[in-house]
Amino acid sequence: MTKFGNYLDSGSDNQLAFEGIKVPDLAAQYGTPLFVLSENTIRQNFRRIHRAFADVYPAEVIVCAGMKGNWGLAARRVIVEEGGGGDAFGLGELTVAMMAGSDPRKIVMNGANKSRETIEAAIDMGVLNQVDNPDELRLVGEVATQMGKVARISLRIRLPLRSLAEVKYVDARYPEGISPSYWERTFKFGLAPDAYAEAVKIAQGMKNVSLEGCHYHGGIPRRAGFYREETEELVEILGDIKAQTGWAPAYLNIGGGFVSERYGADAPPSVEEYGRVISKAITETCAKHGMPVPVLMLEPGRYCWESAGLWVVQVNARKEDHTLANKTWVYVDGNSNEMRDPFDPRCSVHHIVVANDVERKGAEVVDVCGQTCNAGDILAKARELPPLKIGDTLAFLDMGAYNESFACQSNVIPRSATVMVSNGRSTVVRRRETVADVLSREVVPTWLMTREAAE
Ligand SMILES: Cc1ncc(COP(=O)(O)O)c(C=O)c1O
Repeated sequence: MTKFGNYLDSGSDNQLAFEGIKVPDLAAQYGTPLFVLSENTIRQNFRRIHRAFADVYPAEVIVCAGMKGNWGLAARRVIVEEGGGGDAFGLGELTVAMMAGSDPRKIVMNGANKSRETIEAAIDMGVLNQVDNPDELRLVGEVATQMGKVARISLRIRLPLRSLAEVKYVDARYPEGISPSYWERTFKFGLAPDAYAEAVKIAQGMKNVSLEGCHYHGGIPRRAGFYREETEELVEILGDIKAQTGWAPAYLNIGGGFVSERYGADAPPSVEEYGRVISKAITETCAKHGMPVPVLMLEPGRYCWESAGLWVVQVNARKEDHTLANKTWVYVDGNSNEMRDPFDPRCSVHHIVVANDVERKGAEVVDVCGQTCNAGDILAKARELPPLKIGDTLAFLDMGAYNESFACQSNVIPRSATVMVSNGRSTVVRRRETVADVLSREVVPTWLMTREAAE
């Protein structure tokens, strides 16, 4: 038996099974392409990252699972049952968070350009609005005053990351290398420290605004391994701001960017390592500046969702060319409309398992191709796989983060269904899209309705 995760293995009959359910049976019952989400893997990931911080941090830790990575209602219910929170980017994700019964104190709302309607909703719901810029701060004050309510806010910061000025980070997404410091300084979100101190002073003078937190998301620096350096600098700067304004955050949100372990790929730091180092950096730097240790918020998306999702497709055709290209193409019924994770440090390279014959012997190098008109719609390029046959069911592992939530419908191709599996049970949690769904927003203007087609 091959084990791909605590809930994913080849079972006794060589068939891939997720939470005890055979993946080929799921494909037969629900059709392909199909996302499969494991409830217990979500629980396991959430608990592990929560404990990794809560076991070592001296104050409360709130894990706000990043909804941009998976905004599904069923997935959110699992997090709510675990006592977790959510990072909602805008009104839509905020609506999902509330529909799923989230505790508003554990929900934060992100965005650099929120509408009045979105700000009103955050105030109504009593969630922490992570304000990006002075114009938004003014708008929040205006809206809260009109509503006769108090807006709970956090201010988002951007760091200079001076100690990383000379460092270059290289991964599959940035093969030429990128400076984490340049990336962070020029990121479109948040305020530079001097502007931040000014915004704190403005917020302190606003009657209908309660300034409670600081938000920072270090995507690339954290992924590049500089989580101690960025955390120390963040709290040092908050120490300076406290010296200027007298204000220190009750909530410190350090965002997401915790790289997860992906089957068959590189080994990132464990979340326990992230927890120890970050917790120590915050407590020591707070002590140095005489600041109380704040409630810690995290926004892990990829870590919570990635390993909890499979994407299942079927092989429809093969083409071998031994004269011109010297290649083999394998055509499946999925496509890159649904493999669109824009933040993936491994550039959408996912381990592929033949779900109906996990231990199949032999090897061939193939391009696994999607159905769209885009020549770049290759789901696995020059990949060594066991010889594939028409009718095989393929499972792409670690597909639970960002792929479904960023999916599109190019070529009017409807999106996959999603099923959730849990202890031997399965059910649809997002129904398969139809062509009628995709076309449901189309309208022909009246002046085009009556004209004849050209001869
Ligand atoms: C503000 C913020 N928080 C959290 C996340 C989640 O990041 P990850 O999925 O890498 O944990 C992102 C991702 O872009 C983000 O922008």
